[in-house]
Amino acid sequence: MKILILHGPNLNLLGTREPSIYGTTTLDTINERLQTLGDTLAVEVETFQSNHEGALLDALHATTADVVVLNAGALTHYSYALRDAIAAIKKPVVEVHLSNIHARVETWRHHSVISDVCVGTIAGFGATSYELAMRAALDLSSA
Ligand code: DQA
Repeated sequence: MKILILHGPNLNLLGTREPSIYGTTTLDTINERLQTLGDTLAVEVETFQSNHEGALLDALHATTADVVVLNAGALTHYSYALRDAIAAIKKPVVEVHLSNIHARVETWRHHSVISDVCVGTIAGFGATSYELAMRAALDLSSA
């Protein structure tokens, strides 16, 4: 079993980026925690971050993972290209967000254009959202 964890724009800045919203945990620490969880569950974990929409599309197209966990960052709210890529690859994709996008002040964050092509969404639990999403994704693909 292999899982791809994809992080979109600006998530490389976690730790210092708006810590009151996104917390102080860095992306490296999140990835390390996911690797540790993967070791525990005997699952291969691949992580990738990009600030470029096309690079994320390429990663989705090329992935050999059985299941994907995706934090698309702001692309969540407007990228039909990302939405189409998720629909095209026919692999389960779990949408994840550190913040509860539905409770954010900016109303444009309340809508996700990728949710309907993802198997489910986990949002609002900070860095823990990723671990919950990874467990959910693996449960789903081993069911
Ligand atoms: C985010 C929420 C998005 O609205 C925002 O643009 C991000 C991070 C989250 O993890 O809470 O970059 O996806």
